[in-house]
Amino acid sequence: MTTKNEIIREMKNAMEFYKELGFEYLPVKGLGLSFKKERESAPVRKSSPEAGSDKSDKAELLKMLREEIGDCRRCRLCEGRKNIVFGEGSADAELMFVGEGPGKDEDIQGRPFVGEAGQILNNLINKRGWKREEVYIANIVKCRPPGNRAPEDDEVGACMPFVERQIEIIRPKVIMALGNVATQSLLRIKTPISRARGNFFVYKDIPVMPTFHPAYFLRNPKEKILTWEDSAKVLEKLNA
Ligand code: URA
Repeated sequence: MTTKNEIIREMKNAMEFYKELGFEYLPVKGLGLSFKKERESAPVRKSSPEAGSDKSDKAELLKMLREEIGDCRRCRLCEGRKNIVFGEGSADAELMFVGEGPGKDEDIQGRPFVGEAGQILNNLINKRGWKREEVYIANIVKCRPPGNRAPEDDEVGACMPFVERQIEIIRPKVIMALGNVATQSLLRIKTPISRARGNFFVYKDIPVMPTFHPAYFLRNPKEKILTWEDSAKVLEKLNA
């Protein structure tokens, strides 16, 4: 039987957890004992061992896709970029995050979400009990738009086939689309992220959960709770 002290300890853990995430108030849902259970069941499941060779096929296909992109000159974003940021993570990921495009740090390192926004995404991934190397992280455009402006339609058009092929190869069980550009480009909708978020959409039979871009929380840390709630729905879908 759960004792009063155990309940108090669990509640304290939950409150510390939310505080660490930057929340200044507590969501009603997720408080209490069920919270611990949720974290314990969180790891992103891997495919069955038989799918092992499938995984290496996928890794090989991703490698070939990267080679096909080459030293890309398909749009003007090539002019200011330092590195192409292809994407990274498990070729066999059940969960894929799609962002907008590389920022300064990503451009320098050639890796997605390694700057300030990346720290916020990492936090979400870790706190949900997932591991960054188990998920896959990609962007709509693979080169940094100058001054971190949003990519223009023709730039998105030139790069879209690559993220589409990444999705086709990885075949994740769920996609989280981060922000307006990712959501609107993938789903071909114009709905603002503030209205789309929290609801599942479908991209070629794959459920897509739009949520705020992590960079949004640099200015609005209290709203992190909304993405936390969106990720709870993703977790549920992954575990279904
Ligand atoms: N913002 C993005 O959309 N993608 C990154 O990789 C980094 C910041």
